[in-house]
Amino acid sequence: MEIRTGIDLQSVAKMEKKILSNLLQLDSIFTSQELTYSAGKKRRIEHLSARFAAKEAFLKAIGTGMGKGIELNEIGIRNEPLSGKPRLELQGNALMYVKQLGVISMDVSLSHTDELATAHVVLLLDREGK
Ligand SMILES: CC(C)(COP(=O)(O)OP(=O)(O)OC[C@H]1O[C@@H](n2cnc3c(N)ncnc32)[C@H](O)[C@@H]1OP(=O)(O)O)[C@@H](O)C(=O)NCCC(=O)NCCS
Repeated sequence: MEIRTGIDLQSVAKMEKKILSNLLQLDSIFTSQELTYSAGKKRRIEHLSARFAAKEAFLKAIGTGMGKGIELNEIGIRNEPLSGKPRLELQGNALMYVKQLGVISMDVSLSHTDELATAHVVLLLDREGK
């Protein structure tokens, strides 16, 4: 077994500025689940910032950074309905890549304040993975 981790920290103010100035095409970054979860919430930008941090933390954990054809909106967060615990939900190339890597389990944790949002991703790899 091998453990990989990735962590990221985002400025909520910078994210807000980018969103308000329409610099970001939100649906190319966030999944519809993430946009729905955050929509209408008092701390919408914090939730989105934490989700953005999760995408970057995931890319660090798999070791590619941006690239490998993985789009940010292929890396999503879904909260468990009762507990609120976040889970990573992957699609497309992101999903294919973790399968190739031999990832057998993934966990993510988010935290945010009005200034900063952070995410930590942990991946458990089968030793047979490449
Ligand atoms: C989980 C908890 C410790 C969060 O701590 P906090 O200091 O208030 O807030 P933080 O910014 O550090 O963390 C918020 C993140 O915790 C995560 N979280 C929420 N519930 C969680 C849980 N049961 N387990 C793990 N992570 C959880 C979420 O990702 C949330 O961010 P998001 O809403 O953007 O997805 C706190 O909300 C708590 O004790 N919850 C207990 C479960 C609960 O009452 N749930 C209510 C559901 S209605």
